[in-house]
Amino acid sequence: MRQRHHRTHLTHLSRVRVFLDAASSKTILYRGHEAAQQEPRLLGTVENELGLRPWLESQGHEFIVSDSKEGPDSDLQKHIVDADIVITTPFHPGYITRDLIAKAKNLKVCVTAGVGSDHVDLNAAVERQIQVLEVTGSNVTSVAEHVVMSILLLVRNFVPAHEMIERGDWMVSDVARNAFDLEGKVVGTIGAGRIGYRVLQRLLPFGTKEHLYYDYAPLPADAEKAVNARRVEDLKEMVAQCDVVTVNCPLHEGSRNLINADLLKHFKKGAWLVNTARGAICDKDAVAAALKSGQLRGYAGDVWNVQPAPRDHVWRTMKNPLGGGNGMVPHYSGTTLDAQARYAQGTRDILENYFTGKPQLPANIIVGVGKFETKAYGQR
Ligand code: NAI
Repeated sequence: MRQRHHRTHLTHLSRVRVFLDAASSKTILYRGHEAAQQEPRLLGTVENELGLRPWLESQGHEFIVSDSKEGPDSDLQKHIVDADIVITTPFHPGYITRDLIAKAKNLKVCVTAGVGSDHVDLNAAVERQIQVLEVTGSNVTSVAEHVVMSILLLVRNFVPAHEMIERGDWMVSDVARNAFDLEGKVVGTIGAGRIGYRVLQRLLPFGTKEHLYYDYAPLPADAEKAVNARRVEDLKEMVAQCDVVTVNCPLHEGSRNLINADLLKHFKKGAWLVNTARGAICDKDAVAAALKSGQLRGYAGDVWNVQPAPRDHVWRTMKNPLGGGNGMVPHYSGTTLDAQARYAQGTRDILENYFTGKPQLPANIIVGVGKFETKAYGQR
């Protein structure tokens, strides 16, 4: 057995119960602990450690797991200094900044247990020849299902209707006046990669009128045809035609703040917007203002510009003029128990390839040694 002593620092962790009681960090720790104790398939937690500890330790590797990622005294700051490998998840992102990369003298690989590596400074990783690998595809179906659900719950005005029932009220007209059918609507996706394409596939049986997409990588003609999709090269022109817009592109220099006050003016009045990609692709305040004014009829998603979102984050409570239109949840669309099994196994496969010198699956390589291997993080 090989005895190369890599230091593997895992910082991540979907605190799945955060949204139930996000008071103090102690409570968060307790809740995570309890859920993780009761449900061992919560592999993406501090407690269950992606199921990697016995395997890594049997090979002599040091394995440090923590959820402490913020501030100068955090475990991430402390342990990155001599780690060979850092594993993070997007659900509780440990930001691997340029400064941190400069301190990480031994760092060779950043692994994302999941999909989306925007929390790593990819340009700095290229310069320092640090590989950035992720478990591509591991949760794309999970997210696509969540997108379809979110579109439906906004279009059908589900949340206010359910809240009315919980309150003990029964005023059909109050909720029916803002409920529509998805059938016959135009849906556009920003990004038509693995998730965006799966969303369009899943929408077809609803009898949507047309699917549009905005992506610098055009789909092959037969793939477009299969999902009734038409590419629109200008984003303003695309959103102007859509009843529903869904965001499915990675966060990078070219997509940060892409949906801002100016672009929102070009949306159809009363359109619905779903973003499960990354919170920072949307301007937080511009979205809240558009919902409040009725320019947007609804906004839903699970990703936030800061995670965990502060208690007073405007997206928690923003509403349209009729008091609905908010479908926000914590970041969990890509961390179903099914997805956790896949990204935990995928992380292990990546590590095994690395330790044994086998090539990584090309699709998993975001940054190879000294260069971008993916085209998804902007046209470079
Ligand atoms: P992918 O790489 O298969 O597809 C991304 C597509 O976006 C590519 O076709 C690319 O050309 C396009 N794109 C990049 N920049 C663009 C821009 N500025 N405008 C329009 N299109 C652009 O990625 P996949 O698997 O579909 O994932 C997309 C993103 O979804 C991830 O990067 C991640 O941020 C997010 N995600 C969120 C999850 C969650 O739990 N909420 C879980 C998994 C992914």
